[in-house]
Amino acid sequence: MDPHVLIFPLPLQGPIKCMLKLAELLCLADLQVTFLNTDDSHRRLFRRTGGRAGFKGYRKLHFDTISDGLPDDHPRSADRLTDLVHGLESVTKPRFREMLAYGRLSSGSERPVTCIIADGALNFALDVAEEFKIPLIHFDTISPCGLWTYLCLPKLIDAGELPFQGDDLDAAIKNVPGMEGFLRRRDLPSFCRGSDLNDPIIQLVLEEAQKVPRSHGLILNTFQELDSPILSHMQALCPNLYPIGPLHTHLKTKLTPASPQPAAASTTSLWEEDRSCMAWLDAQPPKSVVYVSIGSLALMTWHQLIEFWHGLVNSGQRFLWVRRPNSVVRGPTGLVPEELVRATEERGCLVGWAPQEEVLAHQAVGLFLTHSGWNSTLESLVEAVPMVCWPYFVDQQVNSRLVSEVWRVGMDMKDTCDRVVIERMIRDLVGTIDGSDEVVESLESVSRLARESVMEGGSSFCNLNRLIEDIRLMKM
Ligand code: UDX
Repeated sequence: MDPHVLIFPLPLQGPIKCMLKLAELLCLADLQVTFLNTDDSHRRLFRRTGGRAGFKGYRKLHFDTISDGLPDDHPRSADRLTDLVHGLESVTKPRFREMLAYGRLSSGSERPVTCIIADGALNFALDVAEEFKIPLIHFDTISPCGLWTYLCLPKLIDAGELPFQGDDLDAAIKNVPGMEGFLRRRDLPSFCRGSDLNDPIIQLVLEEAQKVPRSHGLILNTFQELDSPILSHMQALCPNLYPIGPLHTHLKTKLTPASPQPAAASTTSLWEEDRSCMAWLDAQPPKSVVYVSIGSLALMTWHQLIEFWHGLVNSGQRFLWVRRPNSVVRGPTGLVPEELVRATEERGCLVGWAPQEEVLAHQAVGLFLTHSGWNSTLESLVEAVPMVCWPYFVDQQVNSRLVSEVWRVGMDMKDTCDRVVIERMIRDLVGTIDGSDEVVESLESVSRLARESVMEGGSSFCNLNRLIEDIRLMKM
């Protein structure tokens, strides 16, 4: 039977982007792929381009859709994620089951599915796959360091480290093997701060921690050389790991003019990219711009926005700031001080959504003020751009700790949002960019290792080949 992979991402920007890159890589290896989007994500992904635009080069890639159980006008924002969790469980799960039971995939992909690749957070996918005896490989698109804390959650609870006793967020965490020296309570995923272990997100993560080790394998968007201590601990629980990242670099490397299929200019953004910022960047001196983005889910209050703004302006740097629509929490606002408006006109550029990978690769960008989402972190590492981290939730609290204390490629301002701290961190890091400082050296080394890992013979290159071979051998 010919292999046919069904890819099922969590319906959020970060996971969709990663899984689309994986779909492209599998198609380049001539595998048949069906990409299952929720109706809402699919509409947003192709709103401006029509059905398959950008993916036309891939003869063997098909898209299919499924409901996420939420009404069309639901914001699907970070503060309403539990609605999405309920919708997926109550509506998507039974429809997914029907899809596989009756082979109801779109025309053109009627071949039986021989392998499912599903997000680790879609807990029901494993139950359905096991029912129909289809091998399932998990792909956890969050960071491996974040995922490792998820997998250790049962251990943290058994050892009495969770829920926290007392309110000292700087207390050291002892039961996440490999992270004993640097992990504090405040660096655990944000949902660990609650006192109720019955919280739906904690319950979801506990279920994920049970299910991920049961699948045929676990794909990770990292490279062996970056995360090897954590990967070796993780391997004791999940023996079959496929670290094949950084996926965006891996795909770019494979899409050379010599690749078997013509390069397809695919779009993976759920928001419209405002490309005017590229011309603005072209006019700025090398490494002079602070790029600011809090990703696709994080929210800010008006007060935090104003602190960010003062910090940026007071740092004296030029800045390109992504202000995603609806990313400021509804509530009381005020007037923007005149000096901020003036400084922004003089040396700032504001957009609603940017072509981030290109922005980070631009020679004018010297620093990234980020929410520490895993894709953003990897994109910054590959381009050797230092980071000031303002983590918002889930794995981001763990990521920013590794950025500052383990990889030593930036600074972590978690749990503060103060103009003085922002200004100081920007000044400190900008001051090092041209020097031969520890941050610059670490970045250059990580960036080189990342690029080497996806080249012929590199660790991620070989792991992807192994994944492709394993998929070819899978039978229902
Ligand atoms: C996050 C993280 O994926 C993950 O670590 C966490 O567990 C869940 O939420 P997100 O906010 O989407 O998701 O952040 P990130 O992983 O950094 O992904 C955002 C993606 O959008 C990046 O690939 C980035 O290049 C892209 N982006 C962001 C743009 O293309 N344009 C923008 O203006 C901003």
